[in-house]
Amino acid sequence: MALMKTRRRDSLAVFPGSFDPITNGHLDIVERGLRVFDRVRMAILVNADKKPLFSVEERLEIIREAYRGNPRVDVDTFSGLLVDYAERVGASVIIRGIRAISDFEYEFQMALMNRRLNPQIETVFMMPAESYSYVSSRLVKEVFQLGGRVTELVPPVVERRLSDKYAAPVGAGRSGRRERE
Ligand code: PNS
Repeated sequence: MALMKTRRRDSLAVFPGSFDPITNGHLDIVERGLRVFDRVRMAILVNADKKPLFSVEERLEIIREAYRGNPRVDVDTFSGLLVDYAERVGASVIIRGIRAISDFEYEFQMALMNRRLNPQIETVFMMPAESYSYVSSRLVKEVFQLGGRVTELVPPVVERRLSDKYAAPVGAGRSGRRERE
């Protein structure tokens, strides 16, 4: 089997997702990806079926701000098949994060389908730090909307953008309650 023996120079891995919004769990996966690959491209799926909190443009801005000054991480959007996008941009690896066994079945199915669609593209699963194993974009949005604190769960730009969306000061929930020390 003609497997690649060494890592290519200037290797690019695509990290796809909805990223609505990014969490510290996503950032953790990007960091881990950068230990293995030269560059990581976060690729936001443009999905007309979903009703996201942040528009694609907002999600691009958020990720650009989170990685400003880091030339090894960039962000793009894609629609259609992920493997077609990866091939088009010259990436032979797709990174996905697995937080818990519950993520595995869906991720495994996707990885095998992607392999069937394009056997040249390899999926690599990475585990975030245990402290992020329960963090998801969906829960972050829910907690914030209900007045909970998400400070350690998302980068500062996301907390600010959430506050802007709900017109509440950073560090306070929607109810205006001050954060605990
Ligand atoms: O963050 P998410 O929502 O779990 O990301 C899911 C994503 C974007 C990786 C997945 O929906 C995807 O790759 N969509 C693109 C369409 C595609 O290629 N479908 C076939 C893959 S099995």
